[in-house]
Amino acid sequence: MPAIVSVKDLRKTYDTGFEALKGVNLDIERGEILALLGPNGAGKTTLISAICGIAVPTSGTVTVDGHDTIRDYRAARSLIGLVPQEINLEPFEKVEDSVAFSRGLFGKRKDPAKVAEILRLLSLDDKAKSKIKELSGGMKRRVLIAKALAHEPRVLFLDEPTAGVDVELRRDMWNVVSDLKDHGVTIILTTHYIEEAEAIADRVGIISKGEILLVQDKAEMMTQMGRKELQVELAEPASSLPEALSDYDLALSPDGRTVTYTYDTRANRTGIRTMLNDLDAEGLRMVDLKTQQSSLEEIFTQLVKEQQS
Ligand SMILES: Nc1ncnc2c1ncn2[C@@H]1O[C@H](COP(=O)(O)OP(=O)(O)O)[C@@H](O)[C@H]1O
Ligand SMILES: [Mg+2]
Repeated sequence: MPAIVSVKDLRKTYDTGFEALKGVNLDIERGEILALLGPNGAGKTTLISAICGIAVPTSGTVTVDGHDTIRDYRAARSLIGLVPQEINLEPFEKVEDSVAFSRGLFGKRKDPAKVAEILRLLSLDDKAKSKIKELSGGMKRRVLIAKALAHEPRVLFLDEPTAGVDVELRRDMWNVVSDLKDHGVTIILTTHYIEEAEAIADRVGIISKGEILLVQDKAEMMTQMGRKELQVELAEPASSLPEALSDYDLALSPDGRTVTYTYDTRANRTGIRTMLNDLDAEGLRMVDLKTQQSSLEEIFTQLVKEQQS
């Protein structure tokens, strides 16, 4: 099936002359949770604003289910819901009215049953008649999502849904996002929290300085990009590594007690056995072995570093 959202060579230069998006290409698959992971200032908000038609791109195209977001704005926009980063709600408005109002903005006919269903989906049903100002911070975030879903979009964009919230609320949001996915909503969220991408995304796109550096299935990214390390603890500290071992990717810890061997998880042969034999032949006796898989954090840090160099 074709992608539900397709972004082609999207560029955005602000009036200041700053190039915030440098030719982004991105396909969003139906039903997935895609996390756009990047540091502050990477261009995440600019990208989703351009996709949602809030910021006008300098060049490039975005289509939503085949509708061009500029030429066919209304059709494209009706398929998209956007949850902004900041909470801006009318404090004296009732929850159900606020959601119904958002629905009206899209020219959808009134449908109290639909509004009730959306509130139920976000566990806000018992707050329908409450005023916004009576709600907790977590509830307000849920109202923002309900408003974004009010016109029954197929794709939901969440801009840093958990920036600055406490751990409990973060987990709560992750559950909400996962429930929405189970209801068939395609979800794109931006985040600068690696653990968030690691916890909920099906695919992760890494964005930095207006460029998408990599988009990949999360699990694949972890195994393919992941380099494994084997740590060999020595019985006696070594002052240096023997010349005979120079073919291996080895490093000696400053205290001389640990040799770290880095190898590629994709390789047919890891070379661990021969490396250990050669270590032994050089008189370096081991007392313990540990392995470590590189995390998404290391992959992310490495990619961003390579981009800068
Ligand atoms: N309206 C604007 N005018 C000029 N520069 C902007 C504007 N909005 C954002 N920028 C700049 O574009 C870059 C990307 O911003 P943004 O998309 O908000 O990043 P992120 O959401 O990843 O933190 C930043 O360097 C920011 O300062
Ligand atoms: Mg932002």
